[in-house]
Amino acid sequence: MGIQYDKDAGIFQIDTRSTTYLIGIADGKYVGHIYYGKKIGDCRGAQRLMRTGEHPFVPSENLREKCRFMDNFPWEYAGWGTGDYRESSIQVRTMEGYSACELYYDSYEILREKTGLKGLPATFAKEEGTAWTLNIICRDKCIGLKVILSYSIFDDNDGIMRSVRLVNEGDAPLYIDRVLSASWDMDNEAFEMLSLTGAWARERHMTRCPVTYGRHVISSIRGESSHQENPFMALLTPGTDQEKGQVYAMNFIYSGNFLAVAQASQYDSVRMAMGIHPEGFCWKLMPGEDFQAPEVVCVYSDEGLGKMTRTFHDLYREHLIRSPYVHKDRPVLINNWEATYFNFNTEKLVDIAKEAKACGIEMLVMDDGWFGKRNDDNSSLGDWTVNEEKLPGGLKNLVDQVKAQGLKFGIWVEPEMVSPDSDLYRAHPDWAIQIPGRAPGLMRAQLVLDLSRPEVVEYVWESISAVLNSADISYVKWDMNRQLCDLGSACLPPDRQGELMHRYVLGVYELLERLITQFPHLLLENCSGGGGRFDGGMLYYSPQIWCSDDTDAVERLAIQEGTALVYPLSCMGAHVSDCPNHALGRVTPFTTRGHVALAGTFGYELDITKISQADRDEIKEQTKLYHKYHPLVREGDYYRIASWHENHLYDCWQVVSKDRTETLVTYVQVLSQISFRSRRLRLQGLDPRGLYQLEDTDEIYSGEWLMNGGFLVQRPFGDFISRLYHFIKVG
Ligand code: DGJ
Repeated sequence: MGIQYDKDAGIFQIDTRSTTYLIGIADGKYVGHIYYGKKIGDCRGAQRLMRTGEHPFVPSENLREKCRFMDNFPWEYAGWGTGDYRESSIQVRTMEGYSACELYYDSYEILREKTGLKGLPATFAKEEGTAWTLNIICRDKCIGLKVILSYSIFDDNDGIMRSVRLVNEGDAPLYIDRVLSASWDMDNEAFEMLSLTGAWARERHMTRCPVTYGRHVISSIRGESSHQENPFMALLTPGTDQEKGQVYAMNFIYSGNFLAVAQASQYDSVRMAMGIHPEGFCWKLMPGEDFQAPEVVCVYSDEGLGKMTRTFHDLYREHLIRSPYVHKDRPVLINNWEATYFNFNTEKLVDIAKEAKACGIEMLVMDDGWFGKRNDDNSSLGDWTVNEEKLPGGLKNLVDQVKAQGLKFGIWVEPEMVSPDSDLYRAHPDWAIQIPGRAPGLMRAQLVLDLSRPEVVEYVWESISAVLNSADISYVKWDMNRQLCDLGSACLPPDRQGELMHRYVLGVYELLERLITQFPHLLLENCSGGGGRFDGGMLYYSPQIWCSDDTDAVERLAIQEGTALVYPLSCMGAHVSDCPNHALGRVTPFTTRGHVALAGTFGYELDITKISQADRDEIKEQTKLYHKYHPLVREGDYYRIASWHENHLYDCWQVVSKDRTETLVTYVQVLSQISFRSRRLRLQGLDPRGLYQLEDTDEIYSGEWLMNGGFLVQRPFGDFISRLYHFIKVG
């Protein structure tokens, strides 16, 4: 474990628990990527992998062919405009309009700590002396630019965190047109690219494609990390599955526009890179100022996708999610959105609360529609005052009544938005993001507030904190229901309009930072029209994120599989809703809906006063199951056993406790088949020498047998049927 510099060889060696990452300094000035992979004790000779002696020629050997060298060298962070024609990491323009950038090694420092990133979410060490950071300082002296490449690791995890800071050391402003956070060049290994793609209500489906010659891009320019493409990319060697194959993954700790690129180029190398999307981005950096680019988490696995997943899960649970709830049971909640939509009042909510309490539910969440004159989605965002026609006596009266039923209370807000039909917009039309003279495009009849302006951030803070101070509120669902366009800020000068998207994200982070520091008891759930902002940036502030507006148990299998590929189950907002499902009309058994939702933070999204007594009785059982299994689901190691998304028939996942004394297996038969034998499931992650008893039966198996021989599932009769299998170690 640790980071060291071999001065003679010019190699920085970063060792995590089971990986090694090597950076070389060639000719005393070029910062090259040598190796990322399985941990290696003795790396002598490694600098040869930079191939500086080979064709195309090294400029220092024959003083020619610099461009061909630049275009071939395995860069650790790629410049622009001086001969490397591959995807660049950085583009900086001078006042004169010249925009070449060439970075040369200057110096380094190795620290036994990891510091935070100014204004940005980032992973952190829990205790002093448990993290390492390498800062490699590079300069482009022609333009007076210093670039600090940072690499951090934690003693207990295999992830490597990369970020970049730019400092203007010159005496004239510089324009940053592009600044990615991580990049490296590798030999091509017939890689496949894996990403998480989708749409509203169909988020984060696993998608694989071959990395052929050219650029393969995953990105968002929507102002949020997006439903469509998640800021995650992995390159896989051929044949990679859950248990075998090499995986190189990047995940961005950022909630705005991003770019992830895999580029196979002429000499059979592959460049992989990630950072803020350069489209529409331009940041003016004054002399003496610095710019901090967000963090990218890099994970390598030589044991397939499963090990990658568990590395991300452990890293995020221990070093990213700050909330005190991260290791706690969350209250089982009932949310009134699908129960009532905008049509509710105090009486209705209290009726729901009463029935919910009888079934073991612990918190009522009042969703959209409680403020201004909002009876549909056409008005009132920005006017955060209680609608007393619906809630006479205000919020306090409602909350007191809900609490009198024995439930906690949570509330929905959408602070980043403004409705054109609102008092706020009528008073401050210039507070909305829009371009003067161009009619702004509406989405869901709303505009986005210009959070690059401190006075707008201040207004939002004052109004939301007033709501939170007005009653005993335990939980906030922070929603964001549209993406950004018509990018104009009434305040930014012309040559700073390109800063708007990033400044907007910084404004959101500032609000979230204030929220969790001034209301530390709050359980915060992030949401963006379902799962449009399911990213590491949001996880830093909120321990759970609403996964998707699609609550159908079958659709959720693929959504939750893709989400859990990177993000821990402890943060996956999952609820049981009514049938036919409101998003797509499917009818599934109540039990199956419960089993699927038990894979995340558990709750209900239905009118409990109207469902059948049988369903209500089942809720009583499900809430008990949640408390029984949630510590295991929240803290355990996750294994993907089978994927409905791939096989179109059945789904299966498993969570094993860290001490391997118990495991919960969830099996969902999506489609029934006739004339087949029972299905055999091979488990993973158990103690091979342990003995495991299937709960409530006399069946006992060795761990070794369950992982190799497996156990049999008698195929249920019918579609959409699920089973839970709980094995407990008895010897
Ligand atoms: C989108 C969310 O995903 C839903 O759960 C609900 O809160 C609506 N917004 C309310 O407008």
